[in-house]
Formats: sequence, structure tokens, C-alpha cells
Amino acid sequence: MFGGCSAKMNNDQLNETIIFSFEVFLGLDNLTLMHSQRVQKLALFLGKTMKLTSDELNALGVGALLHDVGKQYIPQEILQKHTPLSPSDWDSIHKHPIHGWAYANRVGLNDNVKNIILNHHLWYNGEGGYPRTDSLVTPGPLTQITSVADVFDATLDDRLYRPGLPLRSVVSYLEEQSGSQFSPDVVKTLFDHLSKALQIIGK
Ligand SMILES: [Fe+2]
Ligand SMILES: [Fe+2]
Repeated sequence: MFGGCSAKMNNDQLNETIIFSFEVFLGLDNLTLMHSQRVQKLALFLGKTMKLTSDELNALGVGALLHDVGKQYIPQEILQKHTPLSPSDWDSIHKHPIHGWAYANRVGLNDNVKNIILNHHLWYNGEGGYPRTDSLVTPGPLTQITSVADVFDATLDDRLYRPGLPLRSVVSYLEEQSGSQFSPDVVKTLFDHLSKALQIIGK
């Protein structure tokens, strides 16, 4: 479905990714790790349903698993807060895509994976989210899928600073933001398979 995606990983790249993943597992808190695994499973389901190629699915699987890898650089006292986060806490958290991109770049992950990590909080239309730049950047299709899977899981999930939202609120939010924050194609695919998606993330 999504043409022009050169994501094929050779064995060396795959080995590097596995070693990298061990580093990630040691550096990330348990809540982020469990969230990342659910986002990977859901993103791969959406990607398969949308008939991505095997190369695209390879990049999506790695990128979705590692999308929040930059959170290992956010102080634990912020990630473990049980009270609402302050503006400066959010400033710190909003840097995680850039931290993650820098780490992925250092260990040599490919551009498709790095783009997922860097842009998973950027809006589909490029007009909101983060990180923003002077020029308009719109996330690619693999990032669009990761973004929907990420928000779907994160909003339903209990966080230390707030309980999970009810399903109807999450569905309304995705509906309202379809075409601006989220890809309409990805949202429609999720809604067409909502029961299966909930099962995949254990809800
Ligand atoms: Fe994130
Ligand atoms: Fe996330």
C-alpha cells in the first residue's frame, strides 16, 4: 500500500537492533516497556490489515517498539510522579523523541525507524504536536500508524498521574482528530477492527 519505503534490514542490522533492544530494556522503566510492546503489537496488526509490505512491517515493528526509547533520558522523578505534571515536567518529556532519534542514530538504525521515533507525536497534518521545526513536516505512513496505536494505548492505560480514559472518550477523541492529528485511513482501520485492537492491547 505505501510505496517508496526502503526499510529492508539485513542480518547485521537485525543483530544490532537486538543488541540495541537489550540496552533499551535496561534503560526504560517497566510501564514504558509494557506500553511499547503493546504499541508494537497493535501497530503491526494495523500495518498488516493495511497491507504493508514485509519491508515496511519490519521497520514498523522496530520503530513502534522503540518509539519511546528517548524516555530513558527523562529523569525518573518526572516519569514516576503520582501528581499532575508541571509545565517544566512536560517540557522535559517533550524532548523524548529527539533523545530517541539521537540514540537510534548513534546505533545506526535506518531512516524509516528513526523517523517513527522522531515524529510519533507530530500531527498527521504537521500543524501540531512535537518536535516542531520552522518548515512543515508531515509524518510518513509508518509513523502515522504508530501514532494512532500509541495514543489509543496510552489514553486507555492507567498512568501514575491519571487513570485510563473510558473507551467512548478515546474513540470520540480519535474521531474528532481524524484528518488533523491522525491519519483518517489509520483511524478507520482501527475502528473497523476495534474489538480485535482492544484484545491485542489486553483491554
Ligand atoms: Fe512518545
Ligand atoms: Fe508512547
